Amino acid sequence: MREQILAFFQAQNLLVVPEALDLILASPAPLEVSRTVVHAHKGILFITPDLVTPHLSSPAPEGGNGNGEGPPAPAGDLLGPRAGRSGPGDGFQLLRQGYGEPGVSATPLEAYTELFRDRFRSLSRFLRGRPDLADQVPVKELPRASGDVSLVVMLRDVETSAKQHHLILTVEDESGTARVLVPKDSRPSKVPFLPDEALGLRVHLPREPGGLPLVREVLRPDTPATREPHRSSRPSRVLFLSDTHIGSRMFLEDAWGELMDFLRGSSVRPDLAREIRHVVIAGDLVDGIGIYPRQENDLAIPDVVEQYAELGRRLREMPSGVQVVAVPGNHDAVCPAEPQPPLSPELLRLLPPSVRILGNPSTFSLEGVVIEAYHGRSFDDLIPSLPGARYERPTEVMRRMLLMRHLSPSYGGKTPLAPLPHDGLVMDPLPDIFVTGHTHTYGVERWRGILLLNASTWLAETEYQRMRNVKPVPARAAVVNLESYAVDALDFSGGPAEKGPPEAAG
Ligand SMILES: [Fe+2]
Repeated sequence: MREQILAFFQAQNLLVVPEALDLILASPAPLEVSRTVVHAHKGILFITPDLVTPHLSSPAPEGGNGNGEGPPAPAGDLLGPRAGRSGPGDGFQLLRQGYGEPGVSATPLEAYTELFRDRFRSLSRFLRGRPDLADQVPVKELPRASGDVSLVVMLRDVETSAKQHHLILTVEDESGTARVLVPKDSRPSKVPFLPDEALGLRVHLPREPGGLPLVREVLRPDTPATREPHRSSRPSRVLFLSDTHIGSRMFLEDAWGELMDFLRGSSVRPDLAREIRHVVIAGDLVDGIGIYPRQENDLAIPDVVEQYAELGRRLREMPSGVQVVAVPGNHDAVCPAEPQPPLSPELLRLLPPSVRILGNPSTFSLEGVVIEAYHGRSFDDLIPSLPGARYERPTEVMRRMLLMRHLSPSYGGKTPLAPLPHDGLVMDPLPDIFVTGHTHTYGVERWRGILLLNASTWLAETEYQRMRNVKPVPARAAVVNLESYAVDALDFSGGPAEKGPPEAAG
């Protein structure tokens, strides 16, 4: 039925977000509900939970959709006042928030088990049925199989064999656990493995008893090789910012002033400024308090509520008519475990009504263009794990996230993962624009029809960055044309804007 419903929406050029699909499938008459939703909302591009909910004729059967998956709460219900709701004619539509209500598991172990089960179910959908993963068997059937078979698994652990330095993967699915061998220097060994990522494995079973299955091919969930992005049907541009760190002594006040002059059309490129309807901020809106040792020495505003009040004042400097959509980061005053919830209503009240604060990450559309905003804490885990990866080249790491279709797979690193029943860090649906921050560097790259963007910072170099030898690239503003995807990168780091750095190849 899932495939049937997906095909129904696809035939009408509609994109259905996973939570909406789960709600439809949990209803007694999924096809009927789908038809009603489409009929009632002519001209829409995306099917979201808040569109589906009013058309569910009866409550979802207890226990979810029969696969053990309870329908997640509609995204709209997770939001406070003003947050996330579509406004009249402002071109915004919320598609998905990573954050969801906690489950009812009795222990943390049960809660994390539920999270990883959900992740496996979500990611295995991208691997099942692929022609290059023929003869798929559950892990528990492996001892009785022979020749070449395929597995769809989660990677639990990687070790290196003592003598010959082959890789030995411990993998699991819902049926069991197995160890498989990836020969040293073989093609599959060239892409680093990350714990808790989903994999499709083509394996050859050994003839001799006791030998480990040999991995011949590794597939990851990945993105389609080509895809046509959604485009705005009217002239519209988005300004992408990140890591404003309001409250820090190192906040680049002069550069921010130049940026505001630009936005008001009274400085460089008024032609661009005129078409900017939305500003997206990818987290670390304020510097916060107690985020790192002796942070109080770096703070101009030592009170977090005052920091948000100052953020409100700064955002009021933007011209009226510009809508702001922002997600929190690890410096903001929300739970640091990811996915993070939106700001509390108390803090939201300090911001102007033109500001929407969603959870981190969130997927939404602006003028029909799908944008995924993720702050990017997992750069701190992925960069040390991927040979050659660097903070200065953030889009390479973002490509790896797309390869895994996951923003932060590994448990137990620097990125705390929230034990929620639904894994909101899975990348589904795919965005047209994928924006991150956190690295305080800048990067733009086009990858398989997706614009990857790491959106700089408005904080000068900190002592902490000097210690870690990370050179920030501050005060860059990326303006993206939603019709053509042309990117104008403006550099405000040295006074009035100059042309920013070129795009990365790719
Ligand atoms: Fe930051």
